Amino acid sequence: MQRNHSCQLILALDIEDKKEAIDLVNSTGDQLEWIKVGLQMFTKYGPDYIHELSNLGKKIFLDLKLHDIPNTVAKAIESLSALPIDMLTLHTCGGLEMMQWAVKAQENSKPDLQLLGVTVLTSMDDNGLRQMDIRQSAAERVVHLAGLAQEAGMSGLVCSTHEVVALKEKFGKQFKLVTPGVRPAGSATGDQKRIMTPGQAREAGSDYIVVGRPIIQAANPAEAVASITKELTQ
Ligand code: C5P
Repeated sequence: MQRNHSCQLILALDIEDKKEAIDLVNSTGDQLEWIKVGLQMFTKYGPDYIHELSNLGKKIFLDLKLHDIPNTVAKAIESLSALPIDMLTLHTCGGLEMMQWAVKAQENSKPDLQLLGVTVLTSMDDNGLRQMDIRQSAAERVVHLAGLAQEAGMSGLVCSTHEVVALKEKFGKQFKLVTPGVRPAGSATGDQKRIMTPGQAREAGSDYIVVGRPIIQAANPAEAVASITKELTQ
């Protein structure tokens, strides 16, 4: 348990329409430092959208979950280096060499960018792994892939809140841990299954929590952000 540990909120801006998304961000004033943009909006609105969000004074987590041969991933990171982004995801199951090339490209083209490794998607369970002839359990595989990410020099990992304690125990402060699947007490869980509240995620040791629908679908998103932030700083 890490009561004195600081944990920041990242808003997952999963909204179809760009104007609505920008209006929502504006409605939260200067409460939010971080916004996560995923494939849905990046493939629709592209780099200009990232500039627009950054011009609102926000740090951007671009969640593209890159996974390809090492050269292609490295070149993609070089291409993205012109964008005002602060975090970027790639799949650790792309392998050690892919991550090493990625880290090298990031160090050369955008030294402040944090590369985060996605280990096992939370939509994948032990049965799904077995279908791919992977014999490790999801929990074992997360730790295994995290070891490769460490060897490659990645900055952090995206993981379930339920994996945080084991990862902090094994890797200490080496990685920033970014956790989705967070729900304030009383809010709808949607399709998220293994959830924690913001306070529980912080106590487990998450460095950042990613929250989307409980803020986006709130009657008053600014109040939802204020209440989550309060829980994280109490
Ligand atoms: O709306 P909600 O709070 O569930 O949004 C969580 C965000 O985190 C979404 O953008 C989702 O794609 C992302 N995410 C997740 N689980 C993962 C990885 C990413 O929910 N394992």
